[in-house]
Amino acid sequence: MIIAVDGPAASGKGTIAKALARHYGLPHMDTGLLYRAVALNLLQWHGDPESEFAAARACDFSQVDFDDPELKTEAVGGIASRISAYPLVRQALVERQRAFAAQEGGAVLDGRDIGTVIAPEAEAKLFVTAAPEVRARRRFDELVRMGRPAHYEDVLADIRARDDRDSHRAAAPLVQAEDAVRIDTSDMDAEAAIAAAIEAVEERVR
Ligand code: C5P
Repeated sequence: MIIAVDGPAASGKGTIAKALARHYGLPHMDTGLLYRAVALNLLQWHGDPESEFAAARACDFSQVDFDDPELKTEAVGGIASRISAYPLVRQALVERQRAFAAQEGGAVLDGRDIGTVIAPEAEAKLFVTAAPEVRARRRFDELVRMGRPAHYEDVLADIRARDDRDSHRAAAPLVQAEDAVRIDTSDMDAEAAIAAAIEAVEERVR
């Protein structure tokens, strides 16, 4: 069974995808990490994020440590959201994601275009979302917990800018697949969101 979990930043899709993978005993891929790895390569190589060719050259995962905490920073996320608009970058990452989805037994993938582009054949598709203010609050609390100085208003502006870029780009924009179940986590804690996700998957595959 392939489960596609898409949605905007800090919607809870990562938490849900990990929980679904545990629940169904499936491997999980956080596809945002691939785009973040390209962004971090680019930063470390002093490449220009405005150049599609520089970004395409940075799609080399031979040296990437996917556990590097730098991948999770706001700076890397911001560049990831820019370079992910380039068709050359998206093309370079498609095969790796499709191969992961196609492995025997299935997989859970979370991202922006899993149900629409990477695995349109997925048996279950979820579109996880929440109000921008709620997502900004979650991201802000997370930054504070990590001891990183942050301003709520800046985090909210960043979330809005990221939503705008991800939703309006020409290549694989963030849109809900027609056959996806929408889960709005604005008023849910993680436990409730996970329960809603399992219920939605059960309904699809029953
Ligand atoms: O989900 P995360 O915040 O880690 O993703 C970082 C950026 O990578 C997103 O803002 C988005 O632009 C891009 N991305 C994408 N397609 C995916 C996953 C992430 O374009 N499937």
